[in-house]
Formats: sequence, C-alpha cells, structure tokens
Amino acid sequence: MTIKEIYKNMSYGPAPESASAANDFIDAHDKTFNLYIDGQWKEPSSGKYFDSTNPATKEKLANIAEANDADVDAAVAAAKKALPKWVEIGAHQRARYMYAIARQIQKHSRLFAVLEAMDNGKSIRETRDIDIPLVARHFYHHAGWAQLRDTELKDHKEIGVIGQIIPWNFPLLMMAWKIAPAIAMGNTVVLKPAEFTSLTALLFAEICDQIGLPKGVVNIVTGDGKTGAAIVNHADVQKIAFTGSTEVGKIIRRATAGSGKKLSLELGGKSPFIVFDDADLDSAVEGVVDAIWFNQGQVCCAGSRLLVQESVADKLYKKIRARMERLRVGNSLDKCIDIGAIVAPVQLKVIEDLVKQGVDEGATLWQPSWTCPKDGYFYPPSLFTDVSPSSTVAQVEIFGPVLVAMSFRTHKEAVKLANNTRYGLAASLWTENINLALDIAPQIKAGTVWINCTNVFDAASGFGGYRESGFGREGGKEGLYEYLKPKIEGKFSDKPLTNPNPKGSAKKEKTAKKSDKSNGAFSAIDRTTKMYIGGKQARPDGGYSTVIKGADGTAIGEVSTGNRKDIRNAVEVAQKSTSWQGKTGHSKAQVLYYLAENLAIRQDEFANRLVQMTQQSKSEALKEVDIAIDRIYTYAAHADKYDGNVHHTTHRNVTLAMPEPVGLIAIVCPDESPLLGFISTVIPAIAMGNNVVVIPSETAPFSATDFYQILDTSDVPCGTVNIVTGAKDELATVLAKHDNVDAIWYFGTKEGSKNIELLSADNMKRTWVNNGKYRDWTDKKQAEGTTFLQHATEIKNIWIPYGA
Ligand code: NAI
Ligand code: MG
Repeated sequence: MTIKEIYKNMSYGPAPESASAANDFIDAHDKTFNLYIDGQWKEPSSGKYFDSTNPATKEKLANIAEANDADVDAAVAAAKKALPKWVEIGAHQRARYMYAIARQIQKHSRLFAVLEAMDNGKSIRETRDIDIPLVARHFYHHAGWAQLRDTELKDHKEIGVIGQIIPWNFPLLMMAWKIAPAIAMGNTVVLKPAEFTSLTALLFAEICDQIGLPKGVVNIVTGDGKTGAAIVNHADVQKIAFTGSTEVGKIIRRATAGSGKKLSLELGGKSPFIVFDDADLDSAVEGVVDAIWFNQGQVCCAGSRLLVQESVADKLYKKIRARMERLRVGNSLDKCIDIGAIVAPVQLKVIEDLVKQGVDEGATLWQPSWTCPKDGYFYPPSLFTDVSPSSTVAQVEIFGPVLVAMSFRTHKEAVKLANNTRYGLAASLWTENINLALDIAPQIKAGTVWINCTNVFDAASGFGGYRESGFGREGGKEGLYEYLKPKIEGKFSDKPLTNPNPKGSAKKEKTAKKSDKSNGAFSAIDRTTKMYIGGKQARPDGGYSTVIKGADGTAIGEVSTGNRKDIRNAVEVAQKSTSWQGKTGHSKAQVLYYLAENLAIRQDEFANRLVQMTQQSKSEALKEVDIAIDRIYTYAAHADKYDGNVHHTTHRNVTLAMPEPVGLIAIVCPDESPLLGFISTVIPAIAMGNNVVVIPSETAPFSATDFYQILDTSDVPCGTVNIVTGAKDELATVLAKHDNVDAIWYFGTKEGSKNIELLSADNMKRTWVNNGKYRDWTDKKQAEGTTFLQHATEIKNIWIPYGA
C-alpha cells in the first residue's frame, strides 16, 4: 500500500502489544497453575486441571487447577485460621497492606493488562486504560476505608470468612471489587475466579505473597460451578458475594436460604440507553459505542436497549450504522482494535442463537459490510431495529455486541419502556436538558443512572441492582455494609423476650380484666376486627375469623383470617397508590408526628390493650406505648434527614448517591411486643416513602388493628399501610412468592426465615429475616436506627458530568 493510498482510506495497520512478559509469567509456572491456599501453591487434590485459552487466537495458555470440596475446605480453614490475627492487627495495619497491594498492582499494570487481554479476549486498550487502573484505584480507595473503619463505622464489625465468586467479563476488576472491601473491613476471603479467566487472579495471589500479606487472608481457588457451589455450601463461610448470571444467583439464593449467610448478588441486566430529541446525537453515538461495544457487550450494565425519541430515531440509527461500519474487530493485543473476542465458543453460540431468534421474530438486523477475522471467537457489532418491546431480544440479556433499538414518543412512554424489564441495574440518559434528566433519573428502576455518559465506574460510587439484577452495592460507603454486621446483633437472643402467647400464666401484677370498660368497643368478643386495605376496613375473603386469647388464656376477641386473595388485594392496592412516595420528606415527617400525637392521645387505651393481650403490667404497657411514640418521632425526624452523598469520584462528575424507597415492602411483624414490633418495622419503612403490606403479630394482633383509627385520622394516604391479619407464616409465604413485592422483612422463627429466603428467589426480592434471633423491641439500640432505614432504601447513584 502506498502512502497516498493510506492517506486516502485512513485504515490502520496492526499495532500489536508484546505478549512476552505475560508468556514469561505463564512459563515461570510451567504453564500450570495450582491453588493459592494459606499463602502456598497447592496442587488440587483431584489432580485435575482444565485449560485456559486465548479466545482471540484459540490458543491454549495454561493448565488451571480444578479445586474440589476438599480443596475448598482447606481454603476455608485457612481463611478461618487467619481471621483472628487479621482482626487483631487493626485498621491501620490492614490499610498498610492494602496500600502496598495497590502500589504493586500499579507497578505491574502492564503485565496485568496484557495477561487480562490474552486470557479474556478483551482489548488491551480497555484493560490498560480501564480495567487495571480501576483495580488499583479500588485498592487505594479501600485502603482508606480500612484505615477509617473503626471511626466511621464503629457500630459495625467484620462478618468473618467470605466466599466470593466472580465472572469472566472483568476478571481482575471483579476480583478487586470483591476482595478490597472485604479485607478492608477485617474479613478474610476465599475467592473463585471464573473458569475462562483465572490467570490475573493468580498473578494477584503472587502480589499478595510479595507484599507479605498474612497467609490465609486471601485464598484463590480455581474451578467451575462445582467449586463455586462448594464455597456457597460450606458451613464456615459467613457471607457469599456473587457476580454472574441471574440464573446462578437464584441457585445461590436458594442454596443459602436459612443458613444465616449474608448474601450480595450482582446479576444480569438489560439496561436502557435513552436518547431524547434534544440530545447531542454525535455524543450519543459515542455513548452507544461505550454502552454496547465496550468489552464486546459482555457487560452486566451494558446499554443494550436503545430507546430513542421517535423524531430523531432514523437520524440516530443512520449515524450509528456509519459508526459501526468503522469499528474494528480483532486480536485483543492489537492497540488499534475497538472490539476484541467473545470469551468462549459457548458464549458465541448464545449470541448467535439469540440473534437468529431476533430475526425469526421479525426484527431488522443490521451488521457492517466487513467480516470478522476467523482465527478467534469474534462477533460483529450488530443493531436490531423494528423491535417489539416484548420480543426475546428486547427482554433477554444477550451479553454480546448486539444493540436492540426501540422508539418512544413521550417522556412517560420512555420511562415505561425503560422499566419494562425484570432487571434494574443501570440506565443512561441523553439530553441537553438537565431538568429533564433529573426528572427522569429517579423514575427509572436502576441502581446507577448515567446522564450523558455511560459505563463509568469508580471505587467511591456504589454499584448494584434493583429487581432481578440482584441486591447489595459494591463500591462507595454503601458497599462497605455488605462486609460488616452491626455489633448489636451479638445481643440478640435465641428466644423472644416476652412470651407472646402466655396461655394463662398471667403475672400477679394488676392485669386488666377482659371486661375492662376502658377498652371500649374493641374488647367486645362479639366483634371481629376487619383487615385494613386501601384505607378501608375490609372483610376477609374467606369469611373466617380466629379467636385470640388474652394473657389469662380466655378469649378476648376475634380477628379476620386473611388468605391468599386478601394478600393479593392488599398488594394490588399498595402497588397502585403513589401519593405517599411523591411527598417531600418534610410532609412525611408532619404526617408521622401527627401519628405520634394521636397515639399519645390514646396512650391509655393502647396500654390496656397490651395488658389484655400480654403479660405486661399496666405500667410496663404504658411504657411500651411511650417508647412507640418516641420511635415514631425518631423516624419522623429521619424522614427529611436520612439523605444521600455526593461521592468523590475520579471523573469530572457530580455523583449523587440518593437513598430511594425500595417500593412495596411486605412486613411480617414479630409476635412479641405487639405494638412496638409493629411500630418499629412499619414506621421506618413508610418514613422512607415505601408502601407496606403488614402481617401483624399473629397471637396479639389488636395493637395493629386498633391502629387503623390512628392511620385514618392522620393523613396517611389510602394504600400506604395495608394490614392483613391471620396465620403469619401462611400469609408470609404468599408475600414471599408475590412478584410485585419488592422486599420482605420477616421477624419470626428460624424455619420461617428460611422459607422466606427460599421463596423470594423467584423475583429476587430483597429479604431481611431474623433467622430465629430475637431483638428486645423496647431497646433503642436493638430496635431502632439506621439499620432499619438501610433496609427501607436502595441507593441510586446518578452520574452527572460537567465541563463546558
Ligand atoms: P455464571 O453465572 O454461570 O458464572 C459466574 C460464576 O459463577 C463463575 O465463576 C462460575 O464458575 C460460577 N458458578 C456457576 N455455577 C455456580 C453454582 N451453581 N454455584 C456457585 N457458583 C457457580 O455465568 P456464565 O455461565 O459464565 O455466563 C452465562 C450468562 O450469564 C452470560 O451469557 C450472561 O448473560 C450472564 N453473565 C452475567 C454477568 C454479570 O456480570 N452480571 C457475568 C457473567 C455472565
Ligand atoms: Mg481464558
């Protein structure tokens, strides 16, 4: 080719990065990698190894050890043994080790970048400029959190041994996201890389060795799903952190149900990339490139659904096609390529099959005129138009370089389309109108919203999903709580503190008699209390009622026996009612103060009811009501004060970390402390703007049913608080399975807790269960505070770039 010709077609020649340093590293291990357990390289007990290949060349790179149950057992034992010492050396020493890790990663960043590109097939441009710098940044940032743990998070402590399972799309970065916060908070870890991409994690193990990280703090075991399952099921692992497919996330949710293991799941996505008619279309085109062709589209938060305002749709598609024609696919070590190789033949097949299905279902496929190289697993950038919102390609995560485009007319329609997915990981909004962007951002169900940018990440910002994209956050202060537990949990007891159903063993202190007139109409045995749905008293669908016995064992009244249908009605009403969520924090606070005031007026009546139902003396009962009023004040105060952060991310961005209501929370109240158990759970949930469906104490429901009148007179909108009485665990089962419930809190038995975690896996609702551990609901430290608010909110990070 002559220079003149090159000038004319402006095509690039290859600019390969040298593979020699990475090959030297692999050769130094005789092309065979063992397990990193307790600071030693250990051969797998099975003697088995599997191949890791370079998907851009199909060449085998190395043999990787396959860890079995015995190896996982050894790794967990090493982590368990290392834990006390790692805790004891304290925050500052941990910070020093982490700082040393960060420095060492930076020093070897080129080797890491090349090795990652070879093992995964992603471009060296990305590993060099994005993956590895973010890895170093993550360790630096969390070295800081290690230092600050005992001052900034002093009410919390480490969890213990953490099992971590990561995917192949960002091998080293996902490892950093997992290990850095875990060890910073004083935990020790057993991490399993994905089977396609273990090499950089093993290089990282060498770095841990070089800096003298105490043995057993970090253990790396390689293997496939079986190895992962061995970690998940190990009895000495106290928490599982997983990133990968929603399918495996659900398996892990079910496998850990009832075990008491803490769980964070970062799963799939089908994130919308929304372009409004006033967007800078050329910027949006570059955004599309970053959204769906970054890492070959193998990105959980890929902007894989392009939603574009109808008036600019054709113009944008034309620009995108022109840009696609110029994209270059090729060997990951070529510095001039845009798109590398797909990680493995199995993933390539998934993409090919889904694209075929898209064509079969009638969408229009566009691909560039050139063809991909044949020496690796490549797939061209692809665009689907004429896509119907319910079609397979619009709903299923393709995890490849395939963009699916749809158009919308109104802003309302854009939001509706954006949320028309079972996922909720991220969204990207393109408009030159900041007012519009900030109006739309809170309406999208997603953990991250990028405005006029996409796929930007930083250690200081939390990342994680809503809905079937999983739960928990990684990064930011919000992410640290995944690796901590409140110290107060150590005080919880194995038995409820007050016996909910005393069966006649009344205390000698003066208890109210069932004929006590001050109970007014509520005490009459002939009256069955109804349920409370949509601001109205509702008869039970089944027409049954249950007799409730008082402290002395005699019947004190009847309560409606709710069933499946009643729960469905309550959920439907709660889901439709939106006025509470729209209120300002100030207005919510006013309503809550008013609730407290109305409860204070009826203090005596509520105390008598408690005396009637429980073994409390009148003075104890009056105190319980008093604490309830105090507690309502606390959450009224928080309603306009529990706010977010502006994170110090490294880009020219304002990154707003906003707490949002979870949505519809189902609350299964404890049986004990019938009034405080109800108030302590329902009030923080509504203070944060959620609607709730509540199952009150099964054995002592009348404090909750008496509360209707207070709700009625206190301006809480209809449908915000819905109360269904009846058999607690039976009703809880219906709620746990319900697709329109976003979260469920359960305070009851150990078996009941397991049931909730098991059944909630279908729509991946967030769960908060007590695992049969009981709080003292009268104790402010145990039963009040930010833990409740954290469970009542999701943190959404909104990235707003600046710069003229
Ligand atoms: P996967 O979810 O099977 O693998 C992720 C990790 O989980 C790997 O380390 C794997 O060994 C491990 N694993 C598999 N089964 C397990 C089990 N039963 N218990 C414990 N660990 C287990 O994902 P895979 O098969 O690699 O990809 C399938 C699809 O998942 C992709 O097409 C993509 O749609 C999605 N995916 C999403 C990712 C994300 O970042 N959200 C990352 C990778 C895949
Ligand atoms: Mg590989």
